[in-house]
Amino acid sequence: LKGFKVIMVRHGESEWNKQNLFCGWVNVDLSDKGKEEAKCAGEALKKECAKFDVAYTSVLKRAQITCDTILEVLNQKDIPIVKSWRLNERHYGGLTGLNKTETVQKFGEEQVQIWRRSFDTPPPPMKCDHPYFEEIMRDEIYKCGPPMEEFPRFESLELTIKRCMPFWNDCIVPEIKAGKKVLIAAHGNSLRGIVKTLDNLSDEEIMELNLPTGIPFEYTLDDSMKPVPGGSMRFLGDPETVQKAMEDVKNQGKKTKEDTKEEGKGEK
Ligand code: 3PG
Repeated sequence: LKGFKVIMVRHGESEWNKQNLFCGWVNVDLSDKGKEEAKCAGEALKKECAKFDVAYTSVLKRAQITCDTILEVLNQKDIPIVKSWRLNERHYGGLTGLNKTETVQKFGEEQVQIWRRSFDTPPPPMKCDHPYFEEIMRDEIYKCGPPMEEFPRFESLELTIKRCMPFWNDCIVPEIKAGKKVLIAAHGNSLRGIVKTLDNLSDEEIMELNLPTGIPFEYTLDDSMKPVPGGSMRFLGDPETVQKAMEDVKNQGKKTKEDTKEEGKGEK
């Protein structure tokens, strides 16, 4: 396909993905499986002879480690890596730290689906007595923003897009147009925000999109940064693996404690 190509990848499974907890801006590490996923993402990109000039990631370590791992596998550790809070996962507000299945049991499947996947319904706000409020607000990773008076306590996908797309337009697009090969290693919902904008998805369509952890996907864009026909979200992985991985994300609200334990055992 002719056009500007950009590779995006959601971080590998995080420790809190594995424990089925709402994570948002809590700065957790990748699980062992997530580290493996990041390596596989690098291998998949190696098969495509991917050669990057610049990488963009968030200020959260689960995305940064995914980015570093991919570049390590590609032996391209020397390229600039731009880190911005604007690529962070959506801030999950008062849901942060809660178990997704317990939250479904408490509020019902529909309400949780709306909180996780709707366009403009935010989760409840994170109150200042929330166990993670201080840790997040005081983290020096936010020394370059957002400003204290605008520091989010919750984000809908709409609010996530409002702070993420200016970074895409002002920082990433000029590099793509300059012909640079760009890698974006970010998060499920910041990437859903970029995808919604690029593909001009409706609020209903975006409800159905679950991005798998650790499987890179490519966009081929025209001069106006819109996907060329057939240029949207080409996953670098076999369709069955991609489908299964998307289902796993979708069904996180249905994972029982046993499933989580099972996954844990599998890791040992
Ligand atoms: C989180 O922040 O909990 C995950 O990274 C994304 O969660 P979600 O798939 O429930 O939006």
